[in-house]
Amino acid sequence: MTSIKSIGYNVEIGKNSLKQLSKFISKSNYSAFYIMADENTNEYCMPILLKHAPQLANANVFEIESGESNKVLEVASNIWQTLLESNADKNALLINLGGGMISDLGGFIASVYKRGIDFINVPTSLLAMADASVGGKNGIDFGGIKNSIGTITQPKAVFVYTEFIETLPKQQVYNGMAEVYKMGLIADKKYWQLLSLTDFTDNMEQVIAHSIYLKNQIVKLDPFDKKQRKALNFGHSIGHAIEALSLGSKDELLHGEAIIIGMIMEAHISYQKKLLTKSQLDEILNTFFDIFEPVQLKIKNNNDILSLIKNDKKNAKGKSLFTLLHGIGKCRVDAEVTEKEIVNAINYYTKLKAWAS
Ligand SMILES: NC(=O)c1ccc[n+]([C@@H]2O[C@H](COP(=O)([O-])OP(=O)(O)OC[C@H]3O[C@@H](n4cnc5c(N)ncnc54)[C@H](O)[C@@H]3O)[C@@H](O)[C@H]2O)c1
Repeated sequence: MTSIKSIGYNVEIGKNSLKQLSKFISKSNYSAFYIMADENTNEYCMPILLKHAPQLANANVFEIESGESNKVLEVASNIWQTLLESNADKNALLINLGGGMISDLGGFIASVYKRGIDFINVPTSLLAMADASVGGKNGIDFGGIKNSIGTITQPKAVFVYTEFIETLPKQQVYNGMAEVYKMGLIADKKYWQLLSLTDFTDNMEQVIAHSIYLKNQIVKLDPFDKKQRKALNFGHSIGHAIEALSLGSKDELLHGEAIIIGMIMEAHISYQKKLLTKSQLDEILNTFFDIFEPVQLKIKNNNDILSLIKNDKKNAKGKSLFTLLHGIGKCRVDAEVTEKEIVNAINYYTKLKAWAS
């Protein structure tokens, strides 16, 4: 059992985490409990949550449809409406039981309802455990742009019960690993090497705990994303654009899949800028080739990607600012990137024959 202190709250990780959650509920003085889940987490994770925290048996449950296309204003609006109709007051607690889609959406809903009610995250996917549930970023996709509306509001607690992963589809496990590898690449060379050499599935709890530890160290330095926290954006400038373009299409990519493409392209831009050597670039590529299934880039029009990148909230003064790698285990934030460098990186990716086409 690991406990990590974040900004005003704890992240409890391991077998006893749901017991801790039960204690948290018993000690609290909330007027009502609401649990948000999707159909999968309601089916597989809710019974386990209620077994450990029977006080929640009468909680109000919002079941929303799974999938990124539901991380939108309309769904948030329906939930605000239901909260109002059930007279949820400022003292209500929202429990987000699900993957990153649920914690992003639920955190946003709670952070603005009646100017903010408390929420806790109970992540059920690997991606949400290792990354999304911690750090207080939440939001929705709007206007075809990922996470374009949201707030930075910290949860009151996070309970990471790693056994939820047992029912997670295998593809979703790899989806989550993308962010874990990113953490090694930007902040911890030894961790990256360890992940590259060992079977992470044997050490899931330690892998998740270390990933949370690294993310939390960065978030604590810069909770509002002004400088150091931007390190976490590695792979996301291009990755988010590709993910947004794929949403709703028959070739829809998972977040982690888009981020793998984004990391390869942004590693290539780091190489173009001489921040990475060729052998470091190859090391990254070969590790991804070993671990992940090939992810195809089905978007044929570079301009679609470029125009979304121009709209990225990470930019400033009309310049495209990326987080790039500076060697393995270190990064450089706010690096100005040109259109030509982005197009070179797209071309590089699409020429990785066995992998990308
Ligand atoms: N806030 C942040 O810091 C942050 C960081 C990274 C990613 N994100 C966001 O996270 C989202 C992606 O998260 P995700 O990959 O967890 O997606 P997700 O929440 O859509 O979950 C993926 C799928 O797994 C299912 N699932 C989840 N847990 C399960 C379980 N235990 N058993 C069976 N099925 C289960 C879900 O129902 C869903 O179908 C994106 O919206 C991304 O933008 C946020």
